[in-house]
Amino acid sequence: MTSAAPIGMFDSGFGGLTVAAQLRHDMPHEEVLFFGDSAHAPYGLKTPDEIRERCFSIADDFMAKGVKALVVACNTATSACVEDMRQRYDVPVIGMEPALKVACDRGQGVRQHVIVAATPLTLHEHKFAALMDRFTLDHDITPLPCPDLVTTVESGRILDEAQAREAVRSYFGGFDWHAVDAVVLGCTHFVFFRKYFTEMCPENVAIIDGNQGTIRHLHVILEALGDLAPSDATGGITIANSDTSPAVTKRSEDLFHLL
Ligand code: DGL
Repeated sequence: MTSAAPIGMFDSGFGGLTVAAQLRHDMPHEEVLFFGDSAHAPYGLKTPDEIRERCFSIADDFMAKGVKALVVACNTATSACVEDMRQRYDVPVIGMEPALKVACDRGQGVRQHVIVAATPLTLHEHKFAALMDRFTLDHDITPLPCPDLVTTVESGRILDEAQAREAVRSYFGGFDWHAVDAVVLGCTHFVFFRKYFTEMCPENVAIIDGNQGTIRHLHVILEALGDLAPSDATGGITIANSDTSPAVTKRSEDLFHLL
């Protein structure tokens, strides 16, 4: 595989754009092909088999384009089928999972109360159960499925501050924030709400997402393979979507520029 080949990245829709923005920022020489599957979003309310079918179809297209790595910028798709993708493709497949370890480690041995916001599928799959098992004895963990936050992004309502704020409050308005240490944004769509979380929570509450860690992981893997783009490469991003309507194309651009 040539180091100048692009990196394929996809999500059920617009959420993965937050990961794409992190990739552009941290690895600016890389060429990125981003695909949002908005015509089939949300994934969080589908079955693992339905999601696997979509992921194979998207990733097969990326392979035909000669990508050197695949980033599954979606916690839900990762939960449903990352291992199947690793079996099927011979390029590195980087997945995402809620950054619960980062949130718990912040306590440096002190018991933490962590809210994990994610899609219903992510929170029901065995991958998350295994993650919970590692931390639940020493920490208080509250899983919170928030499917409407995904639709708030996909519909474009996120671009209206009052509606975006209200969507967050509808799930999080009832917490006693002084008894909470961190909120993990375990769905890439939720990263678009970061400023509303910051506005709502007192300073003692950390708002944590897995985007930076995912790109760091990608960097380590490509570096080990000698597949990082040359440092004189210009880099860039091409954004595509399964919904090719002008409204969705414009929404993709508007959301990417918000980041
Ligand atoms: N962005 C996705 C995630 O990280 C899933 C959103 C959805 O389609 O339900 O889990």
